[in-house]
Amino acid sequence: MNQPNTTTLGGHALPSYLDPAHLGPWGDYLQQIDRVAPYLGSLGRWIETLKRPKRSLIVDVPIRLDDGRVAHFEGYRVQHNTSRGPGKGGVRFHQDVTLAEVMALAAWMSIKNAAVNVPYGGAKGGIRVDPRTLSLAELERVTRRYTSEIGLIIGPSKDIPAPDVNTNERVMAWMMDTYSMNIGETATGVVTGKPIDLGGSLGRREATGRGVAIIGTEAAQRIGLELQGARVALQGFGNVGSVSAKLLAQAGARIVAVQDHGGTLYCGGGLDPVALAQHVAAQGSVAGFAGAETLAPDGFWDVDCDILVPAALERQITAANAHRIRARMVIEGANGPTTPDADDILNERGILVVPDVIANAGGVTVSYFEWVQDFSSFFWSEDEINQRLAQILRGAFDAIWKEASEHRVSLRTATFIVACRRILQARDLRGLYP
Ligand SMILES: NC(=O)c1ccc[n+]([C@@H]2O[C@H](COP(=O)([O-])OP(=O)(O)OC[C@H]3O[C@@H](n4cnc5c(N)ncnc54)[C@H](O)[C@@H]3O)[C@@H](O)[C@H]2O)c1
Repeated sequence: MNQPNTTTLGGHALPSYLDPAHLGPWGDYLQQIDRVAPYLGSLGRWIETLKRPKRSLIVDVPIRLDDGRVAHFEGYRVQHNTSRGPGKGGVRFHQDVTLAEVMALAAWMSIKNAAVNVPYGGAKGGIRVDPRTLSLAELERVTRRYTSEIGLIIGPSKDIPAPDVNTNERVMAWMMDTYSMNIGETATGVVTGKPIDLGGSLGRREATGRGVAIIGTEAAQRIGLELQGARVALQGFGNVGSVSAKLLAQAGARIVAVQDHGGTLYCGGGLDPVALAQHVAAQGSVAGFAGAETLAPDGFWDVDCDILVPAALERQITAANAHRIRARMVIEGANGPTTPDADDILNERGILVVPDVIANAGGVTVSYFEWVQDFSSFFWSEDEINQRLAQILRGAFDAIWKEASEHRVSLRTATFIVACRRILQARDLRGLYP
């Protein structure tokens, strides 16, 4: 039942701190939750739990700039659900980050962690800053102050951040050091995605892209799509996009188009993902890569391909471009790249959408391995890690595929069914405190 003074939208109670006109990805997530409700049986009585985050922290992050001025940035950490274990999810540095976006990203982490059955709840964090405008020293100060501010609610058994858009191993090292300084002991397990020399795990940097390739291969087999020679278009060529491209190319696919924030490339004969990654490392963008044609940004959606991999930001595939997509399969490397109405269009057009909540779960799976290795102070070989990753992802995908076939629902709804059952079963067993 709605509380007095609560805004409602489409039957959802909305918290007063969100603007119903600007729900962004949180609105997409609420629609996705609606679609799973009919399949939850008696556990459905707990579904309201999933429609609001357990805890949202907004912090001011003031830093001294190199020129002596003080700048303030908005920071967030949201713990969506912790019924199954501590919060887990990345930290994003981006000028457009909002609370509603971080809430959605945290909620998708709850679903993803339950879908692959790692013992975590879902969380996410972010700072509303364009890191490209900061010097390295300023970036370090922003990271350290943010970590101190959210230090109240993170910790190895409370909530464990990791890299996301515009954050990497170096940022994780500063976060680990700051948290450790504040508590007076080295706590490697407070973040994952750390450098190997600081308790990081072999295979973590590549894990999300590796997962995209593993799940993509599984899905391709099921629809009779041969990876050898398959044409792939990727949006986003950062950590997730570049590794996905490299591994799909190793499996025989041809990378025909790549788009990032700086440019859009096309090459029918196939781009070399390793050379392109070197170009991006040197130049900051795919723009200007020799041997490829440059397309207008919007032209990316018309590229004739077999597999489309969105690996950048949310809400890229919308009702405005979903009818133009020519792929047989979309593998979501990014979180939330497809809006619910675009999902329906793709579904009606017979294009298989392999949803983020399973397709990019490789990263958190190896983050889980990293956290276990940190607790036991015993480190595994890269082969062991990659084998365990493949085993977990293939098992999870198989269960999701069966669920989708049984209920005749999309892979997204099937993943939500598997995950929400696990989360709400845990909620049910724990009972409501007090
Ligand atoms: N890093 C991980 O382990 C991980 C795990 C799961 C999901 N993800 C998701 O994958 C996506 C990418 O994350 P990442 O870690 O690769 O980030 P990243 O910062 O390494 O790369 C982001 C990429 O997106 C591109 N991009 C940004 N704005 C764009 C725009 N407007 N149009 C086209 N391209 C644009 C950037 O140029 C860059 O190539 C995000 O949605 C993230 O949440 C990341």
